[in-house]
Amino acid sequence: MDITFLLNGEVVSLSNVSPTTTLLDWLREDRGLTGTKEGCNEGDCGACSVMITDAQGSRALNGCILFLPQVNGKSVTTVEGMASTDGALHPVQETMIEHHGSQCGFCSPGFVVSMATAHLNGATDHDVQLAGNLCRCTGYAPIIRAAEAAEGTPVPEHLRNLSGKLAKDIPAPAKAEGAPHVQPESSDALAAWYLDNPDATLIAGATDVGLWVTKGFRDLGAVAFLNRCADLRGITEDETGLRIGAMTTLTEVEAKLSPLHPSLGTMLRRYGSTQVRNAATLGGNIANGSPIGDGPPALIALGATLHLRRGDTRREIALEDFFLDYGKQDCAPGEFVEAITIPRQHDTLRCYKLSKRFDQDISAVCGCISITGNGTGILTARIAFGGMAATPKRAAAAEAALIGQPWSEETIRRAMTAMQDDFTPLSDMRASAAYRMESAQNMLLRYFHDANGQTTNVQEVSA
Ligand SMILES: Cc1cc2nc3c(=O)[nH]c(=O)nc-3n(C[C@H](O)[C@H](O)[C@H](O)COP(=O)(O)OP(=O)(O)OC[C@H]3O[C@@H](n4cnc5c(N)ncnc54)[C@H](O)[C@@H]3O)c2cc1C
Ligand code: FES
Ligand code: FES
Repeated sequence: MDITFLLNGEVVSLSNVSPTTTLLDWLREDRGLTGTKEGCNEGDCGACSVMITDAQGSRALNGCILFLPQVNGKSVTTVEGMASTDGALHPVQETMIEHHGSQCGFCSPGFVVSMATAHLNGATDHDVQLAGNLCRCTGYAPIIRAAEAAEGTPVPEHLRNLSGKLAKDIPAPAKAEGAPHVQPESSDALAAWYLDNPDATLIAGATDVGLWVTKGFRDLGAVAFLNRCADLRGITEDETGLRIGAMTTLTEVEAKLSPLHPSLGTMLRRYGSTQVRNAATLGGNIANGSPIGDGPPALIALGATLHLRRGDTRREIALEDFFLDYGKQDCAPGEFVEAITIPRQHDTLRCYKLSKRFDQDISAVCGCISITGNGTGILTARIAFGGMAATPKRAAAAEAALIGQPWSEETIRRAMTAMQDDFTPLSDMRASAAYRMESAQNMLLRYFHDANGQTTNVQEVSA
């Protein structure tokens, strides 16, 4: 494929690049920019962090699971581009030195890129911004102190208005075409092409697909990059609810949904890391059919509808009906996810993510619960779990045990017992079957206490 982008301020045009060459490999092997490190090569450690800028702004992404065509028409700033050309260090590089934020130094370029991106965006929630950067030797306190010390210092001139520079230097980037691969500009173009190429691989944020290549060494055959289908991205709102385009990133979803459903916002903050959420799309999180994805249980509990498209034919289904069995979705060849709609509603949603680590970990169990009542009894109950079955799944028996019953701990405990009819969870490295079941049941009890105002803060441990 042929692509053009800015690399540390300079226009780079490449011809005939393989669509699955990662930015990290190209930077290190073809360009000799070895400041960007390879740690895990699967999005977990942040050693490969790069700053990507486009019309939407600047964000940190993991270069190890970012394919070259995804940066077509964008600006890439690596750690080599953080200091000014006169050699003046970036403020976060200065403070990393002052606060002893580096020892072996392997993680430091990734930290510097994440910190510089947060600095550019004025973000001061450093725990969140740096949750995707792992350090094995320094310890995080000096690094956080360095990030705090750089707060409010001026952004270096060469990093200001990168999107303006991009618009000037690459005013109309060519489509990254190169048969049999495509980068369509609209969902219409995608729909027509996919109908003719139903065996092709769609690539959205590549936080799953990237690993098929870097860890599975898979040849993807023909691919379509969806990142330039502008009409698949973004969130619109009307009196009926929200419509979220399939290509909307988890970062954008988090920003929009957190005020409406704060518990979901809290859970999404624990979805991967800042770099992962900046890349991962909601459409990809649904289409991959993962039984442990965090998006589907919450969306099912909110009563979301999935909008699918094949050629010019569109259909809508309840999200829970999309997941047929492990690895099997109700999606025909040539059909793709166009959008997700969520009905407007009073917020009764609580989301509980159980994982071994607080940050950057896949759920062992993810429980999302929404129960409404009329003061005397329970009217509706939508309870959905990830990690409890081969697909994201509603707890139909537990819901039935709640509806029409009084809002009491006794009712909740009956529903907890009924939940045993809903699921036969597996034991695996994340959790045993018994632990999964007991945790899921206790999530329902926790919902009862939360809804009654007895909130438990799992981030605090007190004697
Ligand atoms: C380090 C790391 C941490 C992670 N943490 C979490 C986590 O905490 N919670 C969680 O739920 N997930 C997590 N994930 C998994 C991943 O981020 C999500 O599943 C993500 O939402 C996938 O979206 P994507 O845009 O990257 O999809 P891609 O990787 O581009 O695609 C995934 C699949 O969906 C298909 N696809 C994509 N878009 C469409 C569409 N519009 N229509 C039809 N098919 C489509 C692709 O062909 C592919 O089969 C993590 C991944 C990594 C690497
Ligand atoms: S090398 Fe670890 S996240 Fe990329
Ligand atoms: S300084 Fe060694 S891994 Fe962070």
